[in-house]
Amino acid sequence: MVSTSTTSNTAAKQKVFDLMLTFVKSKCLYVATRLGIFDLVNKGEQTVESLAQKTNTDTERLYFILRALAHVDVLEEKPGRVFAPTETSALLVTDGEPSAGHLVMHLIEPAQWDAWKILPEALEKGVVPFELANNKGVYQHCYDNEWSKDTFIKAMSFLTNSQVDGLLNAYDFGQYETVMDVGGGQGGLIANIVKRYGCKGILFDMPEVAETAREYIGSLGVDPDAIEIKTGDVFKEIPQGAEAIVMKHFISAWSDQDARKILANCKQALPQDGRLILLQSFVPDLDEPKTEADGIMPGIFAVQINVATSGGGWRTKKQFQELFETSGFKLEKIIKTDNSLSGMEFSLQ
Ligand SMILES: C[S@@+](CC[C@H](N)C(=O)[O-])C[C@H]1O[C@@H](n2cnc3c(N)ncnc32)[C@H](O)[C@@H]1O
Repeated sequence: MVSTSTTSNTAAKQKVFDLMLTFVKSKCLYVATRLGIFDLVNKGEQTVESLAQKTNTDTERLYFILRALAHVDVLEEKPGRVFAPTETSALLVTDGEPSAGHLVMHLIEPAQWDAWKILPEALEKGVVPFELANNKGVYQHCYDNEWSKDTFIKAMSFLTNSQVDGLLNAYDFGQYETVMDVGGGQGGLIANIVKRYGCKGILFDMPEVAETAREYIGSLGVDPDAIEIKTGDVFKEIPQGAEAIVMKHFISAWSDQDARKILANCKQALPQDGRLILLQSFVPDLDEPKTEADGIMPGIFAVQINVATSGGGWRTKKQFQELFETSGFKLEKIIKTDNSLSGMEFSLQ
């Protein structure tokens, strides 16, 4: 029987109020990021009047949003409706390198939000919410719109940049002559692998992303010629030439059925003693902590992926192991890092 004592009842109510209004925090974060408020404040504290004028917005309505962001410590509010930057707002600056701000804008952009609006209908119909709302898949949506594409690519690069050191400390890629990143986006991960371990790299992704990869790899201080950029569709063919394939936050976008097709193509591409390295955030099992060291709750993030993509979203390690083992792979090793990105190394059965 669930307790109804006054103390626990108060705590439960607080929880409901907090959860109910969490979307307001998300939306304020999105709007302020999208308007470039954090870029402006980062250059120096200023009044709401100045911020409204520079962003061409209504001063009084903007004030509600900025004050709310100050209440959750994203900004600091000073007397005279002056807003100053904080350590958090500095992470949300989007006029430079890929940042957490790009991830905020990608995850909360209107097309994503539309998918949440029709979630009950999508659940009843058993269809992909993003596709029901937008009549196309999330990748296609991003690549059809310049702003969405740029934001998505930077969001992915931000995640990679913030997690890659922990991974490279935890796993020795130096054992391979050539590593291929399948669905590797702009190439941040493969560039870092090549830079740290001196192996050769192959980046495989769709042509829309790969077109900017060479420049991005160069900007990371890696000779772009050290990485062969190949484009195509994982469902058709994955190129040969690497002893190890890495797939980071890639297979999780697909259903078991689609994932099996991709895994079959990986098998075709790898030599018999090759390795497939799955890099993911894993949803915790019942007896595991629900929050990772970097604050990410994989079970919560998994819903976002599931709403946006056709697949099963992020899965538990056991679910991935079963998926891979029934697709002709054998689990060799679990890779644990100091952040929410972990890994599983598989050999061919
Ligand atoms: C969620 S992103 C992950 C990117 C990168 N691995 C990372 O972790 O930052 C998925 C990537 O898969 C690519 N992708 C999607 N469908 C693909 C397909 N059919 N063939 C090849 N790449 C594909 C997308 O272009 C995108 O770069």
